[in-house]
Amino acid sequence: MSEYRLLKTDGAAKRGEFHTVHGVIQTPVFMNVGTAAAIKGAVATTDLQEIGTQVELSNTYHLHVRPGDEIVKKMGGLHKFMNWDKPILTDSGGFQVFSLAGLRKIKEEGVTFNSHIDGRKIFMGPEESMQIQSNLGSTIAMAFDECAPSKSSRQYMQDSVDRTTRWLKRCVKEMDRLNSLPDTINKEQILFGINQGATYADIRIEHAKRIADLDLAGYAIGGLAVGETHEEMYDIIEHVVPYLPQNKPTYLMGVGTPANILEAVERGVDFFDCVYPSRNGRHGHVYTKFGKINLFNAKYECDAEPIEEGCRCPACRNYSRSYIRHLLKAKEMLGMRLCVLHNLYFYNHLMEDIRGAIDEGRYSEFKKERIELLKTYDN
Ligand code: GUN
Ligand code: ZN
Repeated sequence: MSEYRLLKTDGAAKRGEFHTVHGVIQTPVFMNVGTAAAIKGAVATTDLQEIGTQVELSNTYHLHVRPGDEIVKKMGGLHKFMNWDKPILTDSGGFQVFSLAGLRKIKEEGVTFNSHIDGRKIFMGPEESMQIQSNLGSTIAMAFDECAPSKSSRQYMQDSVDRTTRWLKRCVKEMDRLNSLPDTINKEQILFGINQGATYADIRIEHAKRIADLDLAGYAIGGLAVGETHEEMYDIIEHVVPYLPQNKPTYLMGVGTPANILEAVERGVDFFDCVYPSRNGRHGHVYTKFGKINLFNAKYECDAEPIEEGCRCPACRNYSRSYIRHLLKAKEMLGMRLCVLHNLYFYNHLMEDIRGAIDEGRYSEFKKERIELLKTYDN
């Protein structure tokens, strides 16, 4: 099964090792997003060693719609399908159904919605989500939840969270059943629960207590970075983390900027994922320790420096800002690819620096320094 070893704490910051059937994850960790079993920007799984990826994240909803989870299972599961033998986390479809799919109807059993590819009607509830994730054979499956809009009324949120708790219990039961079947791809698949409750701290805390009782392999905080302010988000994390087990991984879903990550680690989060590095990279926006720069800017036209001085990524070791800017402007795929590789390398190595600072018991000063530096270009 899995085991989280808490190696060190520094204030509320946690440094851990998460042992899974697909290898050990050093935390805090940033998971690299490959929604449809590929990191957008022509990044292959064979590139991931070089950029320091520990975990790839994929999506239940997207893979169910295309190519179909039955096909992935037939091809031996997601690890074999995309040639990646390290940990994979699959999101449950809950969030994507609510953010992407057309007309939807929520009932106790689950959600009916239209596919964003061909409009066909699909039903997904906790059992269906677990069945799809079991067919994919991911290392970590996420519970099927409702990510309600941040502006939901208190009553709507309370009802939604109660339903999400009932869905979680159904997920646990269904995963146990699936893991015991003879032809299951990964019989050691584990489940993370998801805390919801928008910005209602009391609803969040009650929910955290209830899901913590289920003794799951890990716990996520969902429903954040959906329109509330950064301060509100940090405040919710501070309220919720004390009620989640410290001896399990804590995952902040869909977050965020380097500064968001630095702040959340200080409050006890150890897993992150976000599309920013890959999405920004595809638009020529690249990260440096001084903040983000836009390579389309004319000032980089004859700039012979790498994206970031001292960076050991495949883009910076070999090419100048001037050349990469040209590729982007000429719409050469290589331009996007190099920017995405750099950005993922940047995020993965930010996490490595974060782990080093916690190991050395200097996280608080480290965080302050890094956040100040990041403000040089961005504000
Ligand atoms: N990704 C970002 N936020 C969420 C959330 O609240 N739930 C799920 N399932 N995925 C997410
Ligand atoms: Zn680089």
